[in-house]
Amino acid sequence: MKNTKLTFLIFYAVLLTFFACKENQRTVLYDIDKNIMVDSAAVVSAHPLATQIGIDILKQGGNAVDATIAVQFALAVVYPRAGNIGGGGFMVTRSKDGNYAALDYREKAPLAAYRDMYLDSLGNVVKDLSRLGHLSVGVPGTVAGMIAAHDSLGLIQPFSKLIEPAYLLAKNGFKITKREAERLTDYQDDFLEFNDSAMVFIKKEGWKEGELLVQTDLSSTLKRIMEKGEAGFYKGETARLLVEEMNSNNGIISSEDLEKYEPLWRKPIVSNYKKYRMISMSPPSSGGIALAQLLKIMEQYPISNYGFHSTKAVHLMVEAERRVYADRAEHLGDADFYNVPIDSMLADDYLLERMQDFDLQQATVSDSILASSFETTPESFETTHTSVVDPMGNAVSVTTTLNLNYGSKVMVDGAGFLLNDEMDDFSAKPGEPNFFGLVGAEANAIQPEKRMLSSMTPTIFEKDGQLFMVVGAPGGSTIITAVFQTFMNVAAFNMDLNNAVQAPRFHHQWLPDQIMYEDSAFSDETAKTLQSYGHQLSKKEYLAIIKAIQILPNGKIQAVGDHRNPDDHAAGF
Ligand code: GLY
Repeated sequence: MKNTKLTFLIFYAVLLTFFACKENQRTVLYDIDKNIMVDSAAVVSAHPLATQIGIDILKQGGNAVDATIAVQFALAVVYPRAGNIGGGGFMVTRSKDGNYAALDYREKAPLAAYRDMYLDSLGNVVKDLSRLGHLSVGVPGTVAGMIAAHDSLGLIQPFSKLIEPAYLLAKNGFKITKREAERLTDYQDDFLEFNDSAMVFIKKEGWKEGELLVQTDLSSTLKRIMEKGEAGFYKGETARLLVEEMNSNNGIISSEDLEKYEPLWRKPIVSNYKKYRMISMSPPSSGGIALAQLLKIMEQYPISNYGFHSTKAVHLMVEAERRVYADRAEHLGDADFYNVPIDSMLADDYLLERMQDFDLQQATVSDSILASSFETTPESFETTHTSVVDPMGNAVSVTTTLNLNYGSKVMVDGAGFLLNDEMDDFSAKPGEPNFFGLVGAEANAIQPEKRMLSSMTPTIFEKDGQLFMVVGAPGGSTIITAVFQTFMNVAAFNMDLNNAVQAPRFHHQWLPDQIMYEDSAFSDETAKTLQSYGHQLSKKEYLAIIKAIQILPNGKIQAVGDHRNPDDHAAGF
């Protein structure tokens, strides 16, 4: 009897310890799924809490647009280095009936902005002026964008229901992930430089995984948006706090800028590759045009026969990228301010001619395509993407950004949200590279109320007229090539979506004249042969972070997050 009791007690103790450990694990670490197969609907975002909120909205009867909006607001709380209400983005949608829409809620240059605002008296670019602090901020578009999306395409009423989960996370707090703790700790000096020491992200001793992050000021701002809609951000208390933040720190965004901000519905870029149709973002994104050019060029060659990451395939893809990014630098900008030659750039004849000097065994020198050369490397970048498919078959691909990690590093005092540093995406001076090493010309010069050129490439593919893939990524200039490669991995090289996303990537952007690549992207032999062709190779830690959903031939839905971001999470039902 005594033995039985003892055995029972030990068993009970072991059981308690087991559940305590599990509970502990659950409260500190989130369950992450990178690759799921479901029947009806899926969401992939950069954070497990945001993904779950999207799923909850779908289960309440919301559609993909509703879920996306809820995820966007949630990311503004749980993923502050890129999720935002102080930034902007692009949304591409495909309805279950095959109707497309493209929403531009990109930031705009303030009314007081001017062409040479980042140059000194000698005409040189002042380092970091367009990347850090109050002068780097574009007029935010996210809140107006989410409201426009909801008004036209949302189902869940009222709009405030979509913000409520984010509001509660800000008010009650949530446990931060290891990656967020590392990032918040890394940026302490920048936060201190541009904010009061009481700013919510400032912590002298640094942040730890699992710590509770409560954002009271942000919760009040979200509450104002819940109660007043657009007026809760672009007017009243939030606008007053934002303009005060600017006025006290030589910033130039005015209340007129905020009142005038409007998102725009654009005609998406639609283009075909074999049996596939691409629906992607139009200018001021360069993504749709560049991706369409790349795919049209690929159609000229039997790339499937070359094989995945074979020397021949890599050389071809890189040479196409070189030419496409040269076009980007010269011709792309906000089409409301500059006559972007979209049709000419996508004409088959033009793209055939563009590859006329392509040599199967020789790298083209970028200087021979257009002038100048630079030393710069995209080492760190943040933006964030969400892909959603709902049970009705509607799809949303949305990419949003503050530009670099935590944007300008400026938090609006009293309002609790970070402001973007999107002004760096303009060409501060013709031929001068921005953070991503991208150069630009007249098409992307600064003008009041103009939108800066972007590489964000939220994209949807159809196959034989049916929804096939929803895909996009953060990663600055490398977004376009990452989306391109992920699609080609599936469509040309027959890869499973998970392998397609996780496969190492490479990237060429015309200037700097080098192939950037991730570890093990090339075999030794391929690397040597590419070098013998005249390519310079430059290894990078990672190139963009894809989030993708694919509808499989059996109707199942596969949703995949990228191992490059430990917090990427796919969920569905
Ligand atoms: N800020 C990065 C982009 O829009 O491409």
